[in-house]
Amino acid sequence: MNISCIGTGYVGLVTGACLADLGHNVICCDIDGKKINTLQQGKIPFYEPSLKDVVERTVRKGKLTFTTDIQKAIENSEVIFNCVGTPSAQDGSADLQYVFAITEAVARYAQNYKVLLNKSTVPPGTARRVQHLLKEKNPHSPVDVVSNPEFLKEGSAVHDFTHPDKIVVGAQSEKAFQILREVYSGFIRPYLNLLETDWETAEILKYANNSFLATKISFINEIANICDKVGGDIKTVTKGLGMDYRINPKFLNAGVGFGGSCFPKDLRALIAAAKDQGYDAKLLQEVLSLNERQKKIILQKIEQHFGKNLQYHTFTVWGLSFKPKTDDLREAPSLVIIDLLLQRKASVCVYDSVAMDLVKAIYGGKLSYASSLEQSITESSAIILVTEWDEFRNVNFSELGKNMKEKVIFDGRNIYESDQVRKAGFIYYGM
Ligand SMILES: NC(=O)c1ccc[n+]([C@@H]2O[C@H](COP(=O)([O-])OP(=O)(O)OC[C@H]3O[C@@H](n4cnc5c(N)ncnc54)[C@H](O)[C@@H]3O)[C@@H](O)[C@H]2O)c1
Repeated sequence: MNISCIGTGYVGLVTGACLADLGHNVICCDIDGKKINTLQQGKIPFYEPSLKDVVERTVRKGKLTFTTDIQKAIENSEVIFNCVGTPSAQDGSADLQYVFAITEAVARYAQNYKVLLNKSTVPPGTARRVQHLLKEKNPHSPVDVVSNPEFLKEGSAVHDFTHPDKIVVGAQSEKAFQILREVYSGFIRPYLNLLETDWETAEILKYANNSFLATKISFINEIANICDKVGGDIKTVTKGLGMDYRINPKFLNAGVGFGGSCFPKDLRALIAAAKDQGYDAKLLQEVLSLNERQKKIILQKIEQHFGKNLQYHTFTVWGLSFKPKTDDLREAPSLVIIDLLLQRKASVCVYDSVAMDLVKAIYGGKLSYASSLEQSITESSAIILVTEWDEFRNVNFSELGKNMKEKVIFDGRNIYESDQVRKAGFIYYGM
């Protein structure tokens, strides 16, 4: 099929490349000329494991092309994936201006039957608004609107997209459902759940999915904080909880809180959508505010150890992206922790194998930037592990500690065995 993905970010590029790998002819279109240029030069504008291989392979076969020309993309496609961003507006609701800009372009350029899919995460009611807008701009619009939310995770996006737990399709016409079955037919295995439903159900399902995972994280953080007060080993508690098949161990690790481009903004958007209809989504509000508190708890631990005056200490922050295997810094807990340290006039040295340049662009000369794990700790008073990249898992602390001013570690993701780290002479604080 001829497909276009409008918005060539984390979701649009993965979607486009993976669909091209299935044999479809895909045009990835973005308003950002720099991004498209980068792609046309054979480079990937962000870090996502194994994406480069898929992009290279599909470009070589002539299945994937890039453009800034939205008219060309729309005119040459039977199926148009809207993959633009839906960031938080000031009041927390989803800012849909980019989604509607694409809708207007489709209304303008679609001359024959096409399917316009919202792949971006959008609040319930958006597909209906998109349909109205299409009709308003072009009363004879030949376009079917579909809600097809995406559930991939950055860091394993290609695998997630090609091995989805579920493909959710919200549509109003049998023709649209049939086309979507064709689009995804290469992925559909006997065990795959293709969930066909109405627009609003598909839209809210995505928010429910993210809200539930975020709730699990805030829940376990709450239990970890209680363990800190009353005793009890959170790792064992977590292990035991995870053994209960009704609970499942995933998204159940205590830490410095969740960040990223999705959980915080999607929770805010769902809360706002509920509020709009007069419903106070108290549980979700609490999940968010617990998460904000959680990002700061590590500073309390630092102050407990070093006192309130951090001016004469250098702290090493390991891991900056909001989670491992991505360079995405959106709402990353590391940024909150760095800001808190800088506010207290501490010196901060950071290290992350992929997100350094983006962090440099934010902080410039306010931080020092290490080019290796070893370099990051020289003269350091303490290590703060924020993002659990694999590189930080097997560290020889006995060796590393020799070059530190003080041997203290704040393990913001509980990845270390405290006994082993203590054996290497460190003072250990977990979450
Ligand atoms: N990142 C994830 O892990 C993830 C997972 C599932 C769902 N989502 C959802 O998918 C959507 C996109 O997320 P993302 O992380 O890929 O965002 P992103 O910011 O990486 O990409 C969005 C792209 O859209 C482009 N764009 C904006 N306006 C445009 C226009 N008028 N024409 C063409 N291109 C335009 C931007 O230049 C940008 O490249 C969001 O709604 C997000 O919530 C994201």
